Amino acid sequence: MNLHSRYPAISDLKARARRRIPHFVWEYLDSATGVEATQRRNRNALDQVQFDPSILHGEFTPDLTTTLLGKSYPLPIGIAPVGMSGLIWPGAEQMLAQMAAQEGIPYTLSTVATQLPEDVGPQAGDHGWFQLYPPRDPDIRDDILKRAKSSGFNTLVLTVDVPVASRRERQTRGGLTNPPKLTPRLAVQAARCPAWLNGIRKTGMPRMRLMDSYSDVKTALPSTQHIGYLLRTSPDWDYFKSLRDVWDGPLIVKGVGRADDAARLTDEGADAIWVSNHAGRQFDGGPATIEILPAIRAATTAPVIFDSGVEGGLDVLRAIALGADFVMLGRAFHYGLGALGAQGPAHVLDILRQDMISNMGQIGARSLAKLPNSLRSTH
Ligand code: LAC
Repeated sequence: MNLHSRYPAISDLKARARRRIPHFVWEYLDSATGVEATQRRNRNALDQVQFDPSILHGEFTPDLTTTLLGKSYPLPIGIAPVGMSGLIWPGAEQMLAQMAAQEGIPYTLSTVATQLPEDVGPQAGDHGWFQLYPPRDPDIRDDILKRAKSSGFNTLVLTVDVPVASRRERQTRGGLTNPPKLTPRLAVQAARCPAWLNGIRKTGMPRMRLMDSYSDVKTALPSTQHIGYLLRTSPDWDYFKSLRDVWDGPLIVKGVGRADDAARLTDEGADAIWVSNHAGRQFDGGPATIEILPAIRAATTAPVIFDSGVEGGLDVLRAIALGADFVMLGRAFHYGLGALGAQGPAHVLDILRQDMISNMGQIGARSLAKLPNSLRSTH
């Protein structure tokens, strides 16, 4: 089957994934917080970013390669951390890590993934990044860092845009708890998704296994509290400093939304700034990430990573044109998994690649570095 003729866009994978993932899990993956205005702003603002079309520039094959933190990549795309990834699709973490290693792109394992760093790190080769929600207890933190590092995760990503739990009304309504529990209502939804259910029979009911290894909390908490009971959701500048002292590899700070924060983080030793609003999952009253990107680019000399709302290769080009060095996607790769299982993520990457190539041809940009010059002059 030619995947490109059946599923030419990520939206095709999303539509199929929605049918194959139980509703309560779908609501976790797909929702944002509040009335989801930030999520819509992310999309609408990306759509506003335009390039001048180019003609009569002759034939060329655009160069998509780039470097980040001293490593070369075939294209400026990586996999963002997603909590409870293995609930969205059974075996997700390993499938994503393997694809990332094969394609030579980064894969970020979440602190609140369903698999342990020890079981995923080796599959990611030297492309594993580890995302940290900082544990309250410094001994637990240091142990997690040690485990991540010895499992092969060379780069640390500290998430800072979850100062408190968000409300995520749609997710709550869906009925997901932590750990997930198949109540009769949710079991009926699961029964309609045989491929998902078969996978879950093999993996067992997904849980946050890393957190479980430090906790005997076994009661089901509301899913929006999933990172509240063991993790310090709101680290401060001192916490950042102490983390910088103990982690000797590249340290990326994710969830930056202000230029002054980006500047200070750079001064205090962050190796890269990750502009993100958690794809609208945390705060419904903030700006679209693409709108704050240029100011953050101007405020730091460190590489800038971008996420939130990216749905195609053109969005990747938009972010790069406005100052990003690298673009990460979380949901899109999970739509791929839900639609096509293990072969889905590679197809997502291929859609992004083809879309970038086609649009760079329209723009007349031979390399990523040429993109800023092709933005329409309104920017
Ligand atoms: C979320 C957390 C786990 O967005 O990052 O669900």
